[in-house]
Amino acid sequence: MNESKKLYIETVGCQMNMLDSELVVASLRKEGYELVGTPKEADTILFNTCSVRQHAEDKIYSALGRLKNAKANHPGKIIGVLGCMAQKDQELIFKRAPYVDLIVGPGQLHQLPTLLAGIAQGSGRRMEVSLERTAGSRHEVATSFESYDPLRDPAMRPSPYQAFVRIMIGCDKFCTYCIVPSVRGPEQSRSPAEIEAEVRHLAAEGCREVTLLGQTVNSYKFVENGKQVRLADLLYRLEAIPGLARVRFVTNFPKDMTQDLLNAVRDLPKAMPYLHVPAQSASNAVLKRMKRLYTIEEYREMHQRIKETIPGVAVTSDFIVGFCGETEPDFEATCELVRELHFKNSFIFKYSPRLGTKAQDHFPDDIPEDVKKRRNNELLAIQNSISENDNQPFVGTRQQILVEGPSKTALKHGEDGPLLQLTGRTPCDRIVVFDGHRRQIGELLSVDIDDANAFTLFGSVVTDHAGPEVFQLAGMGGRG
Ligand code: 5AD
Ligand code: SF4
Repeated sequence: MNESKKLYIETVGCQMNMLDSELVVASLRKEGYELVGTPKEADTILFNTCSVRQHAEDKIYSALGRLKNAKANHPGKIIGVLGCMAQKDQELIFKRAPYVDLIVGPGQLHQLPTLLAGIAQGSGRRMEVSLERTAGSRHEVATSFESYDPLRDPAMRPSPYQAFVRIMIGCDKFCTYCIVPSVRGPEQSRSPAEIEAEVRHLAAEGCREVTLLGQTVNSYKFVENGKQVRLADLLYRLEAIPGLARVRFVTNFPKDMTQDLLNAVRDLPKAMPYLHVPAQSASNAVLKRMKRLYTIEEYREMHQRIKETIPGVAVTSDFIVGFCGETEPDFEATCELVRELHFKNSFIFKYSPRLGTKAQDHFPDDIPEDVKKRRNNELLAIQNSISENDNQPFVGTRQQILVEGPSKTALKHGEDGPLLQLTGRTPCDRIVVFDGHRRQIGELLSVDIDDANAFTLFGSVVTDHAGPEVFQLAGMGGRG
């Protein structure tokens, strides 16, 4: 065992990376590592990286750059690069930052304790990554990406009441702009029995809400005893788990949004009415170049089905602006879609060409940066004005919330009297702030909403439990 046991880890990117970091830290804590808050205090510094846009990579390379002197002054410090950028750049990372000791792809994270121990004992620098997608048969490539889901350590989660659970890895959609299929490998679903056991275990430890993760989570399929299990079936199985109160799942691929799945979300009390279904663009020409496999008419039809099937559902989306060849009318169509479909939220990104993707090989990145920036700001302004008005209709309704913890202001003011300002979330993921007690953290409570601003609902806990609980949609009856 290594004597230097102080670990600093920095994570960028999506929820999948947050989960990977959580699992890495849990596995290293078992080896005696202790987490510290700055690279300076640490003997082992790990970066769990993202490759989806250039900006995410630049951030890591500059963080590595800042460590050059630290490593020169303390040669015993171990520096490791994990995750998507490790898989994508491989040796290039050693070239750009020769003092890096370790490069580990997302499919090799389980090897980390052994690799770190080896380096501490003088093995020299190491690189462990998966096969490139064209480097072998599908089976060979798939097995080189191992899903990394060891037993969980509840102490490592940001909240003991909420957890991410991976239900699949990889992606087979190959949208032309996207690096994920190369760095996360072929789509592979985990066995439902394994997922169910993991969620049962989490619930038994007190976890109330799980978020199922997959790059295209609604494409989940696994053949069990000769029968195909899909995401809707999985939701039914998780519904039966005692103690568990809420199930969410991200990210959905529009074409795989089956009616079965929508019915399951409508019918299962634990399946939350919150769906992230990225549209990316509303121009058919752009969607075609992106190889998204649907037309905007099909997306609209799917959105309509979601709204008709699930009362009070919140739908969120991602958009890429300035994709190769995007004209002003293409962009206008996207603005129109955002105005029309009234997403609860949209995440908007400027197109960033990724080496090795189809778009980078075939289409010039021909939209100037200032145009990308303007389109980004314009679309963001449209979405913000929608989001701002969206909270008002909740004033006067009763909502069931899962209490997450003290609000930011409570933490700032160090409140710890009998009443504390707490935050929680409604089923459709709206943030609610209210006065409560520390012991209520992790509970499901009824809250009457009496005020709202653009980002937050404000309410008071319902203390009268005389009658049956009725939760209300904004302006209607049902779930919020
Ligand atoms: N450039 C910009 N945005 C991208 N995304 C994926 N690849 C790129 C890229 N090359 C966005 C998509 C996706 C989200 C996670 O990131 O909108 O849904
Ligand atoms: Fe990337 Fe498309 Fe797969 Fe999403 S569905 S991870 S955007 S290739």
